[in-house]
This record gives sequence, structure tokens and C-alpha cells, in this order.
Amino acid sequence: MRTIIEPFRIKAIEPIRMTSPQERERLIREASYNVFLLPARDVLIDLLTDSGTGAMSAEQWAGVMRGDESYAGSDSYYRFENAVKDIFGFSHVIPTHQGRAAERILFSTVCKAGQTVPSNSHFDTTRANIAYVGADPVDLPCPESKALADPHPFKGDMDLQALERLIEERGRDNVPLVMLTVTNNSGGGQPVSMGNIRATAKMCRRYDLPLYIDACRFAENAYFIKQREQGYADTDLIDIAREMFSHADGCTMSAKKDGMANIGGFLASNDPQVASEGRNLLILTEGFPTYGGLAGRDLEAVAIGLYEALEHDYQHYRIISTAYLGRHIAEAGVPIVQPPGGHAVYIDAASFCPQIAALEFPGIALTVELYREAGIRAVEIGSVMFGHVDAGTGEERAAANELVRLAIPRRVYTQSHIDYVVEAIVNVFGRRESLGGYRIVEQPPFLRHFSARFEPL
Ligand code: F0G
Repeated sequence: MRTIIEPFRIKAIEPIRMTSPQERERLIREASYNVFLLPARDVLIDLLTDSGTGAMSAEQWAGVMRGDESYAGSDSYYRFENAVKDIFGFSHVIPTHQGRAAERILFSTVCKAGQTVPSNSHFDTTRANIAYVGADPVDLPCPESKALADPHPFKGDMDLQALERLIEERGRDNVPLVMLTVTNNSGGGQPVSMGNIRATAKMCRRYDLPLYIDACRFAENAYFIKQREQGYADTDLIDIAREMFSHADGCTMSAKKDGMANIGGFLASNDPQVASEGRNLLILTEGFPTYGGLAGRDLEAVAIGLYEALEHDYQHYRIISTAYLGRHIAEAGVPIVQPPGGHAVYIDAASFCPQIAALEFPGIALTVELYREAGIRAVEIGSVMFGHVDAGTGEERAAANELVRLAIPRRVYTQSHIDYVVEAIVNVFGRRESLGGYRIVEQPPFLRHFSARFEPL
């Protein structure tokens, strides 16, 4: 059969509410043109994020009932630890309430002020947690990632020459660790090849530096390796994942993505020093080391979800359905980052509405218009999220790209929902010349995209 179907049937449903264009006009104005400030009940199709927004399986809900809520040493913890060790292979596992808690613990343990942490691309919370300890997060994406419309198979790869140059320039002792984000979220949801993971690990060993993987979307990355990299077509996803992590010294994980859970995460490491210092910090703010800010039932959901993410039929449907959205809007002429990512399709908002300058936020214009058109919520990944005010001159600096991300929650929407999204985007594209820019009227000092208020120009 050529038709790919959702490899599940629906057991519980949740109504979504249609609004009128007049209501949406009022609602988006009341939200100061920032979709983060919209109440979710006023959103029809929510593509803001794939984080914690997935549907759990019947098995996971059964696990929730089985959850052992003992404070110390619960059965659920041991099931969680066994699953993480089985797939990721690291000797120490520290549960956290989500990914950024694992990041905070790792960087407060291994980084000192003034040091540099290179990555293929840091996600915004990773970047913020490195900066918070006074270190410098540096992105070294491969040159192919810069040509947005060019469909290179592994645009998430690290630029190894740039990594070597950086380590030599800053000095090995000023680089406490190297990171790889799989898949590369900020760079368009693009995968990292096994070859690049291996080569990065080799360089790390040469300089005696630890390599940590930001593992949020590890199963999607494994699927791309199986599809696109020579030698893996017949390997099971779980074995590809095991090989990916065998090259690293540890990982941070947000189980809200490929953990298929609504909350959860962990820090895993082979370094006993990181583990013992990490556990001390964990007790301070997250909880006892066998629950780390999670209920026993959450640990169960993650332990089961990690394996479900690695099921071939699920991952096949997942990647094909994201590509379906990308292909249909690209065929209508909409400029997207090619190829479509694993968890999301990224529209190139700068090419979509070239009449809007970067600092007039074309990504905001497009997210507002998608909401107006059809009640769809997407997210700007451009100069609002990654732009900044230059410390020296006080001038506003634009981000490298103006993207709008359509992130697909796991196992939530069907093909007809996606067809609806395609129609809405194509409609907005048809009247793209009428879109105008925005200016910021109020913003917090950091992570401004969550709460900034805008006004049409
Ligand atoms: N690393 C990556 C690559 C991420 O995409 C995220 C979260 C995190 C770390 C942090 O994990 O949210 O559990 O603390 N990304 C979400 C997103 C928020 O929408 O892409 P967290």
C-alpha cells in the first residue's frame, strides 16, 4: 500500500472550538498581537510547540495508574532508570521535571564564568542557562544549514572545522564541554548524521573534552539516519539511538518531545562527579534523586513513551506527515526550510513577505495572519526570539533568519487538520503583499518572545 495512515485509532477525544473572524480580530488585538498571550481555548489548531502537547497511548495511561508515589526508591523510578539506561546507555540517570532543569544542573556543575560552550545550535533555554552561569554559548552549524531552500539531508551537522578553530582560539581549558542538539530545533528541525556525531566525538576525545547530546528529538533523528545515511537502512531505530549515544559522555533530555509525555526530562552521564554534584543540586530545587520533580506516574509515562517513540511505524507516520504539510505548502510556492524538519515545518517569513524589514518582524506578521485566517497558532523564530539589543551601541540587532515554525504535536492531529492548515497558509500566501510590519511596545529583559506586546505599524 502506498497510503500512509496514522498507526493508531482514537480512544478519547477533546473538542476544539471554531471562532469567527470578528472574534479572532478582537482576540489577537487583546493579546497584543503575541500568540503566546492567546487563551488556548480560542485556538483551533495549535502548532505553537510539539513540547508536552502530545497524546499519550493507552499503555502510558495504564502506566499512570501503576505509578508508585513512594518518596524514595519507587518502582516507577527503577522502570524509568532501566528504560533510560537501556536506550541511552549512560551509567547515571537523574530525573528532572523538564529539559531546562537538566540543563541548569549540567551547566552549573561543569561550566565556569568566561568559558565557551560550542554546539551545532543551542536551543533558547540551553543558551540562557549557559549565559546564566556567565559562560558563552556559541552556535557552529554546518555551512549547508545557511541555504534555507537547499534540501541537504543533514543540515543539523556541526561545522567541525569551526569547532576545531574555536577550541584552538579559546583554549581547550576554556571549553568545559561540547554539545550536539539532535535534531537541531533552532536550525529548522534538521537531523545530525551518525558520521557527524562520530567525528565530533573523535575531536572531543582528541582534546579530552566531554560531549553531551541535547536528546529531545533523538528518535526522529534516528529515523532520519535510517532513511538518509548509508548503512542504516536495515538497522532498528533503537539500535541507531544506542549507537548515537555510545559516542557521547552524557545527555540532557526533555521527555516532553520524544519521551511522548506531557512533562518530564533527565540528565544522564557517565561521569560520577557530574552525577554526584548534579544530585546535590537536584535535591535543592527539584527533589529526591529517585523522582526529581516528577510524580511516579510521570516517570512511568516517560519509561513507556521512550520506547513508543522508537517504533518504526510511529516514526514513519510522524516524519511522512510533517513532510506532507511541507510538500503541500511548498508546491503552492510558500518558501520553507528544505527539507521539512522532523517535528515541524519552518516557513521563511523573510521571503514570504519581503516588504517587511527584519526589525519590523515578518514572523510576527505571519503568525498574526495565520490566526486571523483560520485560528491557527504558530510561533515566530526570528528577530523577536533571537534578535537582541547590542550592549555597546544600544541598537536592535536582527536574527540570522526570520522563520515561522509550525510544530506538530505528537499523535494529536489527523490528515484533515493538516489539510485545513495547508489551505489557510496558501490563502494567506495569496494575499501576502497586504501584510504589514509590527513594532514592540513592551518587552521583558530576556526571553522576550513569551510576553512582548506588539502594535501594527
Ligand atoms: N532543547 C531543545 C532542543 C528544545 O527544543 C527544548 C524545548 C529544550 C531543550 C528545553 O526543554 O522545554 O522541557 O525545558 N523546546 C520547546 C519548543 C519548548 O517549543 O521547541 P524543556
